[in-house]
Amino acid sequence: MADMTIEAVKWIGGTDGVLEIIDQRRYNPAFIKLKIRSVEQLHEAIRTLAVRGAPAIGVAAAYGPVLALQWLTGRPGVPEVLNEIIKACDYLASSRPTAVNLFWALDRIRAKASEVVEDPQTTARGLQAAILAEANAICREDVEMCRRIGENGAHLIRDGFGILTHCNAGALATAGQGTALSILYEAQKRGRQFEVYADETRPLLQGSRLTAWELQQAGIKVTVICDDMAGFLMKQGKIQAVITGADRIAANGDTANKIGTYSLSILAKQHHIPFYIAAPSSTFDLSLESGAEIPIEQRDPGEVIRCTDVPTAPEGVGVYNPAFDVTNGKDITAIITEKGVIERPNTERIHVLLAETAGAVDDAST
Ligand code: MRU
Repeated sequence: MADMTIEAVKWIGGTDGVLEIIDQRRYNPAFIKLKIRSVEQLHEAIRTLAVRGAPAIGVAAAYGPVLALQWLTGRPGVPEVLNEIIKACDYLASSRPTAVNLFWALDRIRAKASEVVEDPQTTARGLQAAILAEANAICREDVEMCRRIGENGAHLIRDGFGILTHCNAGALATAGQGTALSILYEAQKRGRQFEVYADETRPLLQGSRLTAWELQQAGIKVTVICDDMAGFLMKQGKIQAVITGADRIAANGDTANKIGTYSLSILAKQHHIPFYIAAPSSTFDLSLESGAEIPIEQRDPGEVIRCTDVPTAPEGVGVYNPAFDVTNGKDITAIITEKGVIERPNTERIHVLLAETAGAVDDAST
């Protein structure tokens, strides 16, 4: 069973509380916790991947404005508090560009603050309490969305399956039990016998460091492979399904996820293996028609030419380090969301599922 003591992001206390995260920059994720006390610290934690994974980034960022307000001195009035909330949201939005959950969560905080200040009775304390309540709601909803993704996708895992996953889309990447890995945890609960191959996921090794550790903790058989081995395993018949998470899904189903995901989708197509994406509705960006519009984060070249600080390439060599790539919607067998499964995703099917069920999680979690 999934070890639900993994809490990648956790708010401790009230409006004067602190954000506790598991530091995911470590090679051994048996875990060092960090207490985040300022919006600057939080920005740095997101930028450097101490907290990572699209849903976890969104949840963590939601608490940023609450932290920012703790640093206001004197007796700030409502306009000053509102200004500080907006400033914190704008600043955090510059921490990473691809995972849309970040912007989704910050927009919710901004919207809640604007709604609350419309009431002339609102006090500065009331506003502060309202945005903490909204951040807590975002966190609770993420836990619930993860659970439902697991339930909605578990039937896809059959006895004897070998499942390939990439990066980490587990409890470490969310406030709950993950997205792609949530499906595996639920299948395990239902008694399915299967094994998992975890791509190591160069350059930052989220697969070998985090996914392998997380699945081991849960008692799921997991084997680490180098990223370039996936095609050969498929040819050998070891893989019956590929499941990954997502950082942003455009209206037509094109999906940004960790670099290497696109190659897996092409390999899966070549070998007639189903390719699944697991993601909550907060990862969809319906304002973008296609994946061509998704901003792709470029990261420090040092991540590619060094491994645990040991140089692995000649000094001065050119480096290209996009952190994500975009898988074509037409190459995705299905997207598993908390609202249901979107088979052969396209603009119409995505719109129908998301529009028809708008608000479903909020309703269930209140
Ligand atoms: O750079 P990272 O580690 O934040 O990238 C994470 C991923 O690509 C995950 O697959 C994605 O965010 C989904 S997490 C449920």
